Amino acid sequence: MAEPINVVVTGAAGQIAYSLLYQLAAGSVFGPDQPINLRLLDIPVMMEVLQGVVMELEDLALPLLKEVLPTADPAAAFKDAAAAFLVGAMPRKQGMERKDLLSANVKIFKVQGEALDKYARKDVKVLVVGNPANTNALICSHYAPSIPKENFTAMTRLDQNRAQAALAARLGVQVDKILNVIIWGNHSSTQFPDASHATVNGKPVPAAVNDDTWLNEVFLETIQKRGAAVIAARKMSSAMSAAKAAGDHMRDWWMGTKPGHWVSMGVLSDGSYGVPKDIVFSFPVTIKDGKFNIVQNLPVSDFARSKLNATAKELEEERTEAHSVLMP
Ligand code: NAI
Repeated sequence: MAEPINVVVTGAAGQIAYSLLYQLAAGSVFGPDQPINLRLLDIPVMMEVLQGVVMELEDLALPLLKEVLPTADPAAAFKDAAAAFLVGAMPRKQGMERKDLLSANVKIFKVQGEALDKYARKDVKVLVVGNPANTNALICSHYAPSIPKENFTAMTRLDQNRAQAALAARLGVQVDKILNVIIWGNHSSTQFPDASHATVNGKPVPAAVNDDTWLNEVFLETIQKRGAAVIAARKMSSAMSAAKAAGDHMRDWWMGTKPGHWVSMGVLSDGSYGVPKDIVFSFPVTIKDGKFNIVQNLPVSDFARSKLNATAKELEEERTEAHSVLMP
């Protein structure tokens, strides 16, 4: 059996981590032959709660799970990390402006970037889940200059899974019959869920749906606002589905995508599709040997162009705000 790898989960006492940790320990992400050591980072006041999570991890009695380290010290958490799920973030509180949230969170991701830079493996794969995920990933990478930029990604997989499920429901097919739905841009309400290149049983989705108004309005808005709809119903934000998406994202990054399949990931823009550079933007990618490549040469309609521009603009604004917090 392989040597264990160190896997970090931040926000480990929170609700997404609670669903994510089982998937990691059960081998659903890094495979059934890869033992793991879990490094669980949270803030000092959460250490007692985290002890309870550690007890439950022990009680899973899963053979792939070797050591478990609960800690509030980023240096200990990120030591020799091969993979990191950065889930922990300050939640939006009542009366808090988006700007206040961004300001609190970019500071957290600066500290974690510095710790990754100092203590993690140089090939560590970092998935940022905590919001604002795209900009947090940008900041984290900025403060970890010794780790390649392509090792930092932000999660838009939950949006992709939601889009796939919505199309499957509309067309009355099993969810895995829908392929290559794209989420472009920010993990926010400006994201552009794009079904124009998607297929159902190998045939184009737009022809199967045969209703552009539904695709460009109802479908689009449903996916953009799905997170808010879950909060309205559950009084808490998506956690089980977010954890599943985080597992999907990391598994595909680790193991590769199947031939002909694309997945959406927030990655540092290289200017593809006219997207400005130096923002973390969600693109369709294929993955092989642990490296992703942005799918190229997809036709972009005028409608799609306006949506790509809007979400890129929001990310540029977030970047400016983040810089003003960190480098006033
Ligand atoms: P939660 O509030 O249940 O848990 C967050 C945990 O992070 C708490 O235990 C908190 O103590 C911890 N934390 C706060 N600051 C920390 C720090 N500096 N270091 C380590 N841990 C820290 O929140 P939940 O539901 O687990 O969500 C976590 C984040 O994921 C939120 O920012 C949420 O907005 C985001 N999210 C992102 C999604 C995406 O698709 N990208 C989907 C759903 C949620």
